[in-house]
Amino acid sequence: MSLWDRYVVSNLVACACATKPIRKQREKVVPLAEGKVLELGCGAGDNFSYYDASKVDHLFALEPSEAMLHKARHAAGALGYGNRIEFLQAGAEAMPLEDKSVDTAVITFVLCTIPDWKGALTEVRRVLKPGGKVLFSEHGLAPDEGVAKWQRRIEPVWKTFAGGCHLTRDTGAMFRECGFELRDAETMYLPSTPKIAGFVSWGAAVPV
Ligand SMILES: C[S@@+](CC[C@H](N)C(=O)[O-])C[C@H]1O[C@@H](n2cnc3c(N)ncnc32)[C@H](O)[C@@H]1O
Repeated sequence: MSLWDRYVVSNLVACACATKPIRKQREKVVPLAEGKVLELGCGAGDNFSYYDASKVDHLFALEPSEAMLHKARHAAGALGYGNRIEFLQAGAEAMPLEDKSVDTAVITFVLCTIPDWKGALTEVRRVLKPGGKVLFSEHGLAPDEGVAKWQRRIEPVWKTFAGGCHLTRDTGAMFRECGFELRDAETMYLPSTPKIAGFVSWGAAVPV
């Protein structure tokens, strides 16, 4: 990992993920997780305080970046997770987990970044138990052409400062392309956030 990624990008991404509108999005999906939970690209561990401890048996926190994992371990320690959390240093495209081993996969603000998102969602299907679900909250391609035009223009520069984050990925279409159906999905522009990064969707996705 370069010094740029370790010291600049990881802190920029951690700050962007801690804004009030983003925290509100976490509140909408993370407390619904239950059973054995897998969090993809857990980043700095900003979701950890939103899980309902009475519903979560075990949390696999998967994250490829050493710098992010360091922050996430610190967050889990401060919250007293103990051995209910297991950190996996890996990319979501090849997860060190058994087939049908997870009840809930939590995906927040990470499909925008994973280089091979199809590979990652294929892996999610593999590790989900029958009846399992994905809970997601993502930002992505805006439905308004005036915003989408700027997203396409700015994305190449944005990616270098935002750890590979894309602005123009269509979350719903990505799930559908990988054999998921959306349940209770909603969309909106986040308040107090530039529209190019503020069009969000959230809800559940289940394999069909
Ligand atoms: C914008 S951050 C979001 C972190 C966290 N999910 C959250 O909601 O705060 C994106 C995260 O995706 C991680 N990431 C990048 N490539 C990945 C991959 N191939 N598989 C899983 N996570 C990845 C990054 O290291 C980073 O921590």
